[in-house]
Amino acid sequence: MLTLRSPAKVNLFLRILSKRPDGYHELASLFQAIDLCDILHFSLSTSDTLSCTHPAIPLDSSNLISKAIAAFKIKTGYNTPIQVHLEKNIPLEAGLGGGSSNAATTLWALNKLHNDLLSLSDLQSLASTIGSDVAFFLTQGTAYCTGRGEILNPMPALPHPTHKLWIIKPNKGLSTPLVYRNLDATKLEKRDPQKTLNTFLSQTPQYYNDLEIPAFQLEPSLALLKENLKKDYQTVLMSGSGTSFFCLGNNTPNQADHFVTQTRFINREKSEWY
Ligand code: C5P
Repeated sequence: MLTLRSPAKVNLFLRILSKRPDGYHELASLFQAIDLCDILHFSLSTSDTLSCTHPAIPLDSSNLISKAIAAFKIKTGYNTPIQVHLEKNIPLEAGLGGGSSNAATTLWALNKLHNDLLSLSDLQSLASTIGSDVAFFLTQGTAYCTGRGEILNPMPALPHPTHKLWIIKPNKGLSTPLVYRNLDATKLEKRDPQKTLNTFLSQTPQYYNDLEIPAFQLEPSLALLKENLKKDYQTVLMSGSGTSFFCLGNNTPNQADHFVTQTRFINREKSEWY
């Protein structure tokens, strides 16, 4: 049995550069892992099985854990049946990368159970075939990602912000493809992501997320929530395609009926998992 944490991420900034001919969007984003984690239990078994504490999670081949297992088997030729149990703590449709993280954690676990058969860069290539965000979770927790999100520029760990970090998510979620479909990349402010990245390295961070525009159009209550949160927090930004926000500030949130948790940036050591 192998039990691993599967962390969420936030996008400290997210710039969408253009829509590509293949339908994906060219982006540039600073990804940071946080210690809001699902827990995954892996054991060798007589047949592949997937179970989960959350009733809304599909347990069929559409689950990114199943896709990771299938991709690992095709790549390595190993066909060992595996039993996976997922304790879901990361909210769904939140822009926190929970499903992608689960897939990356599964690839790491399978590789451990097969004596590190694949190199980290092989695992990262395999990860990028499963979803745009999956490879990020195989970095050490801080990375400037470009392309679809799968081109990784690992960064040194950032100092934790001076204020407390909160994740706040309303009940309403948004699907990532829907948010991207609602975006007109030609109308966005032409900010230079390299310059934004430098603001994080010089500790004068400039937080923004181009996906707030389509997400707020689809769900105007998100814009209202952001305005309200800004009364209590120094920084309020939607993560990824939403609908969670990360907030920096020392007030304890009072949003009833919302998912609320205090969290921290996390990074892993080179040869260890989170
Ligand atoms: O790669 P992934 O399957 O996670 O992407 C989900 C959806 O999000 C894609 O089908 C696409 O609609 C959108 N997407 C995009 N550009 C990206 C990443 C995702 O348009 N860079």
